[in-house]
Amino acid sequence: MKIIKVKNYDEMSQKAAEMFIGKIRRNPEINLGLATGGSPVGLYKQLVQDHQTNHTSYKKVKTFNLDEYIGLSGEHPNSYRYFMNEQLLNHVDLNKSNTHVPLGDTENPGQQCSHYEQLLKEHGGVDLQILGIGSNGHIGFNEPGTSFQSETHIIELTPSTREANARFFTSLEEVPTHAITMGITSIMRSKEILLLISGDSKQDALSQLLQGAINENFPASILRTHPCVTIIADEAALGK
Ligand code: F6R
Repeated sequence: MKIIKVKNYDEMSQKAAEMFIGKIRRNPEINLGLATGGSPVGLYKQLVQDHQTNHTSYKKVKTFNLDEYIGLSGEHPNSYRYFMNEQLLNHVDLNKSNTHVPLGDTENPGQQCSHYEQLLKEHGGVDLQILGIGSNGHIGFNEPGTSFQSETHIIELTPSTREANARFFTSLEEVPTHAITMGITSIMRSKEILLLISGDSKQDALSQLLQGAINENFPASILRTHPCVTIIADEAALGK
């Protein structure tokens, strides 16, 4: 794993954007794996700005999101589809049919999981995956205890994850209890992974990722076995 140390969130976003833009320019048909949450918001802002100023094109880019809440339609302001449209997809020249987020309001979430995994395989997998990390070590919504062998699946969110995400909802009760997430194996198939870690609330997670045991109780630990992972971490996350 390569670690890039930066001062703060803005510098993290800037560095991540430089890397993304370089990759997209070198491979205009790149398959991007996208994440939601606070960590990549600054990156997406930079990508939009760059598109407007330098016209980096996304015409042939395909995107695949990590996860979606079960029970929320893409029009729901708290759905990850909505988040992605607002933060990035509506603001660059992506062909909307090339953007993929698991469907959260489907009648058959189990079938949606196999369909999504199939979709990833049909398109040759993700070239560059962006990740954030939960303070409990989750990546995507793969909560502690998720099998390292997992493909896209349904997960019950832990109380700590629901509490952490309640900031986007009006109350904790509104946060869905389940989600569809790419599995650990689906994520590990990405050719390259970029993990963004910012803020002192992520200090413990980062040190466990770097120094703890590699096991399913801390899902992100598997990243230590991936051949091409870059972490961009700020001073607050790195601590003293
Ligand atoms: C988001 C996702 C999650 C987040 C993680 C960190 O699609 O899959 O794993 O990356 O919960 O969230 P933030 O960035 O809000 O701290």
